[in-house]
Amino acid sequence: MVADLPLSHPAFGQAKPCPKCLAPTLKAKRLAKDYGKFGITGILTEMTFHAFTMRSAEEMSQGQRASLELALLEAQTFAAAPRGFLFLTGNPGCGKTHLAVAITQAALDRGVPALFVVAPDLLDHLRAAYDDESVRFDDRWEAVRTVDLLALDDFGAQSDTAWAREKLYQLVNYRVNNDLPTVVTSNWTEREFAQYHGRIASRLKAAVHVHISAPDARGKVGRGAAL
Ligand SMILES: Nc1ncnc2c1ncn2[C@@H]1O[C@H](COP(=O)(O)OP(=O)(O)OP(=O)(O)O)[C@@H](O)[C@H]1O
Ligand SMILES: [Mg+2]
Repeated sequence: MVADLPLSHPAFGQAKPCPKCLAPTLKAKRLAKDYGKFGITGILTEMTFHAFTMRSAEEMSQGQRASLELALLEAQTFAAAPRGFLFLTGNPGCGKTHLAVAITQAALDRGVPALFVVAPDLLDHLRAAYDDESVRFDDRWEAVRTVDLLALDDFGAQSDTAWAREKLYQLVNYRVNNDLPTVVTSNWTEREFAQYHGRIASRLKAAVHVHISAPDARGKVGRGAAL
């Protein structure tokens, strides 16, 4: 972009970055600065679509395998064109976090501001803003509420307080109302969701929901396979 300046101006004719084009980068930088610790680090960096396998046929029934195939398909569809809510449930180790991280990494690779957060860690991070003078709670809250793509992992692992319920309700409600692409993963059953917060449960009914019935992959695939 070239600014409209008089001929005599020292910056006449010089290209300068367009604020519109820079906006996503600035948003991503602000997010990375404040939510840096939620960045995809360590073992999470290995959780890509490429590394997600259909596992061995002996490990599971046809139904379990079909649920895994559907989860991968829906996750890839969501990653290709993030829209609405993708809700992944299933027992520990079935691959929910792996797919949520893979979706986030795919978005980040395309330059889309995306955030992967574990529900209890997010609530701690938000709470910590009340005691931290270097950050405003509202900025921190706004960043997670409005990020282009949010992966909220392990919903249900948070401690149950009125504040936690309110914040999670507000987060889900805002993102549903504004049609912001969101992935939610949880070990909870529909009943547990309904018991925890009927209004969150009701909003998640509109999501693309895949229940992964595949067994625990820990120690069977990837790094832990040989243990
Ligand atoms: N289909 C798969 N292909 C390759 N690796 C997998 C697959 N499923 C799970 N894994 C690996 O197994 C481990 C456990 O998976 P993950 O963390 O996604 O489980 P989870 O469903 O989130 O469990 P939890 O409910 O305990 O959080 C991770 O290291 C993940 O990369
Ligand atoms: Mg997990």
